[in-house]
Amino acid sequence: MNIDQLRTQSLAAVAGCASSTALEEQRVALLGKKGRITEALKTLGQATPEERKTLGAQLNQLKSEISEAIDVKKTQLARAELDARLASETIDVTLPAAPVPQGKIHPVSYVMEEISSIFEQMGFHVADGPDIEDDYHNFDALNIPASHPARQMHDTFYLSRQSSVASRQQEKSDAGDWGLETNRYLLRTHTSPVQIRTMKGGKPPFRFIAPGNTYRCDYDLTHTPMFHQIEVCMIDKHVHMGHLKGCIHDFLKAFFELDEVPLRFRPSFFPFTEPSAEVDIGCKRSQGELKIGEGSDWLEVLGCGMVHPNVLKNCGMDPNEWQGFAFGMGVERLAMLKYGIPDLRTFFESDARWLRHYGFS
Ligand code: DAH
Repeated sequence: MNIDQLRTQSLAAVAGCASSTALEEQRVALLGKKGRITEALKTLGQATPEERKTLGAQLNQLKSEISEAIDVKKTQLARAELDARLASETIDVTLPAAPVPQGKIHPVSYVMEEISSIFEQMGFHVADGPDIEDDYHNFDALNIPASHPARQMHDTFYLSRQSSVASRQQEKSDAGDWGLETNRYLLRTHTSPVQIRTMKGGKPPFRFIAPGNTYRCDYDLTHTPMFHQIEVCMIDKHVHMGHLKGCIHDFLKAFFELDEVPLRFRPSFFPFTEPSAEVDIGCKRSQGELKIGEGSDWLEVLGCGMVHPNVLKNCGMDPNEWQGFAFGMGVERLAMLKYGIPDLRTFFESDARWLRHYGFS
């Protein structure tokens, strides 16, 4: 028996294994019950006691060398196999998630976008203001004094007064800046206060719209406590009611995607405009169907007017130099008319079936 040859062959066989499975097979082939080394050890019985002594020691030495080589190889292969697996199973967590095909855009969001894009094409920019307002911006500056019945009409949600000393002091100093006795916080009842914030914070001329949430303490078939409005305002040196009428006319034709929309301006009253009007569009109602743009019925869609001189003064403008128009409209109402949505309250019930039906892709 050539021990050296056996060693060279065995160690080469172990070194040549390319996988854990191949290594295990090799281990069985060398050290298993019928393995080469085991078989070699079995032949010791036939050897002379002298031979047995040296050969036995050599074979046992070889057996442990091979065992050790197998262990080392096993660790190497396990590490290499794990590396390969990790490389092949890598997930790029920075990739965007697969889009959810069922997602729909709520009609309020969609219609706000539609309206905004029409006005943006007319050169208006989008202005913003807070949902939590104060008496000054929501009422006083808009020419609605505390005693004015319009304040009651608005069914305002007032916030309870903050109780910390610091916040009361802040309130007092804010009120002082505005020359007011008190300045209560409230949820804005309309988007008109954005007129005040935008005009006070800039220089005329102005041309902006203000879409957003509005709140009133009211709930029935045609009112929800939270709803949406879009305010439109234009101030310049020679703006008159003709411009107001043209702007509304162009907007309604674009919004309803019609060549012609009959309009009717009814005299009305808003404290922040003078003169004021409500605008009706021509429509036809028959068999529960509503058709806009034809027929002999009328449907109110918005309130408008020429910005009141007091509002201009409150925003630091001379009404003899600057003038303009403003109008405000309810987003849900326009969405219901354009897309035939019959019930206002369903807008906010979060019913996925409703959204699947009325939502937009
Ligand atoms: N702010 C009014 C409301 O909520 C709507 C409105 C009417 C806005 C006339 C205007 C306007 O800018 O000129 O009922």
